[in-house]
Amino acid sequence: MATRLDVDLTHALDRTLGDGRGLSLAALEEAATRLGDVADWVAGEGERLAFLDLPLDAGPADAAVAWAAAAPEARDLILIGIGGSALSARVFDAIRPAEVAGPRLHVLDTVDPRPVQGLLRTLDPGTTCLIAASKSGATLETLSVFPILEAWLHAARGAEAARRIAVVCGVAASPLRTRAHERGYAVFDIPTAVGGRYSALTPVGLLPAACIGLDPRALLAGAAAARARCVEPRVADNPALALAAAHWAAESSGRGAAVLMPYGEALRPLGPWWAQLVGESLGKPGPSGPAGVTAVAASGPADQHSLLQLLVEGPDDKLTVFVDAAGDAGPDVPADAGDLTYAAGQALGAVLAAERDATEFALAQAGRPSVRVRLAAADAECVGAFLMTYEMAVVLWGRLLGVDPFGQPGVTLGKDAARAVLTGEPADLAARLARHRDTERTSSS
Ligand code: PA5
Repeated sequence: MATRLDVDLTHALDRTLGDGRGLSLAALEEAATRLGDVADWVAGEGERLAFLDLPLDAGPADAAVAWAAAAPEARDLILIGIGGSALSARVFDAIRPAEVAGPRLHVLDTVDPRPVQGLLRTLDPGTTCLIAASKSGATLETLSVFPILEAWLHAARGAEAARRIAVVCGVAASPLRTRAHERGYAVFDIPTAVGGRYSALTPVGLLPAACIGLDPRALLAGAAAARARCVEPRVADNPALALAAAHWAAESSGRGAAVLMPYGEALRPLGPWWAQLVGESLGKPGPSGPAGVTAVAASGPADQHSLLQLLVEGPDDKLTVFVDAAGDAGPDVPADAGDLTYAAGQALGAVLAAERDATEFALAQAGRPSVRVRLAAADAECVGAFLMTYEMAVVLWGRLLGVDPFGQPGVTLGKDAARAVLTGEPADLAARLARHRDTERTSSS
């Protein structure tokens, strides 16, 4: 497969920005030297890097396509999941081909009653399918909302409802897995060794993709091509290594924040997906204190009218990563609209590209480094490649920082605390929480 993802560091570098304002080639080389032979290291890590091998097995994608084809035709699909069990579905929804008819996707990654009631009031249970996704099979938000929608579907469809419900969960015993088996729902496994934020290419992402008409095999094909490049030894040949080195060099030069700024609506949900991957993987204790960067999900051109001021004239503590994809030029701004806009006669796609280049220029003028990730198209192959490349980049970046990019004790503490608030268990945590809540607050009211 031809290269469909390219990482361009030109506007991140000293030699382009001048006056020692960008990243030095020496820092990038140091990162590569510290990482050593990536292929050798990957071979030695085995199961810890199980996410890397997901694209090599077409079985889960085939199973997802088969369930989507066999489920009764649906106008709406509700995915109930949160964090790594929801963010990739939004990514895939944004790139679904316009010409493929498929159900509308609604992602419930909340316990806010408002959107839940909104769906209950507006959707027809006779034409709706449900997917509940949770690696642990025990997450509060997912397991609180799922039975509400499950009951709604059962009330309307009786025994037939089971054919419209699928569960995606880890293979270990869990309340969600037990429920699925008891009620005869299709069950799709998330491999034990693949953590939540690395699970986009498991049935967590592949099943909703298949249901909405996006070919999960194309996602895997793009990811497989990216995986092959991710073990190359040279920064110039390895996009994951290039990104890891650039992020690490930026952080080493005092830039403790990173901004992902995709251009185009089809790429917009990459921002929240990326922010979770970066924030949750790297925000950990490191060898010399707390590590990680503040990951900010932005979007062009909307954030040119918002965050851009901060990026250009605020603290020089950020690396911005632009993501773009070649796409249709779209309709022209009418040529006779010259009294309204200086874009008269130009295609909207050209206006979007001009804005992206202008933003990159504005940053460069201010001496602020940026990286450009170019996708050949906003399609399943390229997005599969993007996900795989950044997952590997974050793992390599974690090695450079000396942090374990897997696990999320901070998130787990939040989950445990919510349980303690609601149930009083575990008792020691509930007692600490009670003391926390009783602490007199200082407020301005
Ligand atoms: O990356 C992670 O592991 C977490 O953010 C999870 O994705 C999130 O907490 C949801 O967990 P689960 O999939 O177990 O419901």
